[in-house]
Amino acid sequence: MRSLLFVPGDSEKKFAKALASRADALILDLEDSVAASAKEGARKIVRAAIEEARRKKSRPLIYVRVNPLESGLLEADLDTVIPARPHGVMLPKSRGGSDVMQLSTKLAVREAECDLPDGEVSILPIATESASALFNMGSYAGASRRLSALTWGAEDLSADVGASTNRLDDGAYTDPYRLARALALFAATSAEIAPIDTVFVNFRDKAGLEAECAAARRDGFTGKLAIHPDQVAIINAAFTPSPEAIARARAILDAFVANPDAGVLGLNGEMIDRPHIRRAERLLEAAKAAGVD
Ligand code: COA
Ligand code: MG
Repeated sequence: MRSLLFVPGDSEKKFAKALASRADALILDLEDSVAASAKEGARKIVRAAIEEARRKKSRPLIYVRVNPLESGLLEADLDTVIPARPHGVMLPKSRGGSDVMQLSTKLAVREAECDLPDGEVSILPIATESASALFNMGSYAGASRRLSALTWGAEDLSADVGASTNRLDDGAYTDPYRLARALALFAATSAEIAPIDTVFVNFRDKAGLEAECAAARRDGFTGKLAIHPDQVAIINAAFTPSPEAIARARAILDAFVANPDAGVLGLNGEMIDRPHIRRAERLLEAAKAAGVD
């Protein structure tokens, strides 16, 4: 998943547009972009949207952002949308691996009731939305085999902390949010799931989005959340490995195949060893997923 596009769950019009956006995944939102009075209507729209997407031959992955565990709204969200078989559920305000386990149990009950394969529905937590959650970032590893990816958010975290802003004048995140971003990257990596970078909210600022994508890819994120269809192409391009990068990854693996007993080798004047193999394998996996291998 390179691009994951948020779609407010109460908007049928935006869903139709999102389906045509070429995003790798859509996140149909029942949480913050839907007013309390519109939640029940949104659940029904989201359910019908998933059913519609399922009937299409070529379609993005469909995730639903449900309301948080302690919201009192989650049971009704799951009761309405799980029978339609979304690929996954995004869990906002996640406090750690134990929240994922709780959600997993709720999903297992619905899967059994709906005759769906056990474990079919994936979980994608937003892992940095409160200060206390940051102290549990190591707890995702091994929490559930449903975990597919993990992402982070700066808006709810800054509200929790009481910060006046989370960005400097030049657009860079301030230190507390840089820490949250880094922890999300390490939490996902240690749990062996995809690290997904957070939203870039200035959806008219293409250069700003490109720069943030480049920084995310550089650091090891494999995809990014989007809030507007115009962001999808930029994100897809940024997280699709280039032909040069693919060729280099192949050359690294070929060098070790040709020298099976070597621990370290020289390639084009550069030392390569075990970490380079892992990185090359990952890059080729990403290329395959993007259809450019
Ligand atoms: N998914 C699908 N379609 C979208 C979209 C989205 N996320 N964002 C915008 N569009 C559509 C608009 O409906 C509009 O369609 P139209 O041409 O048929 O009228 C078109 O794309 C152009 O939109 P634009 O006028 O540029 O933006 P806007 O002012 O209508 O919408 C937002 C701006 C921020 C309200 C909108 O992008 C949005 O709803 N984003 C998702 C918000 C969200 O889910 N947040 C939760 C996670 S942070
Ligand atoms: Mg939020």
